[in-house]
Amino acid sequence: MREELIKLLDKAYAPYSNFHVACIIEMMDGKYIPGVNVENASYGGAICAERNAITTAVAMGYKRGDFKKIYVMVSGDKLSTPCFICRQVITEFFDKDSEIVLMGKVGDSKTYKVSEMCPYPFDSEDL
Ligand code: THU
Repeated sequence: MREELIKLLDKAYAPYSNFHVACIIEMMDGKYIPGVNVENASYGGAICAERNAITTAVAMGYKRGDFKKIYVMVSGDKLSTPCFICRQVITEFFDKDSEIVLMGKVGDSKTYKVSEMCPYPFDSEDL
């Protein structure tokens, strides 16, 4: 997985921040769905790697319950956590016991449950 994420970092389109993010989602059926951040000259149009991967999976026909685990790697030297917009989208599709793996480029990694990384989510129960 680490090698795949490192290769995927190269595909990020981040000419403005130069901060590359790669995400791979492991699906319940054993498939892996990639995502990278895609920036825009209109900065607010940037799409994060996590949401890119999740929305790709949805476009492929996957539903809540099909999402198993999410891996994230950034081009910086430290591990980095998903932004809060991505956390909100993660809670929409992943079970609270699913794992979020922050993977470093050189052997370090940290794993969190969705419930730890995304406490007190706003979800369909709130509507
Ligand atoms: N970014 C992600 O891809 N995922 C996150 O969870 C945090 C931020 C991207 C967005 C932007 O292209 C760059 O990182 C700097 O914020």
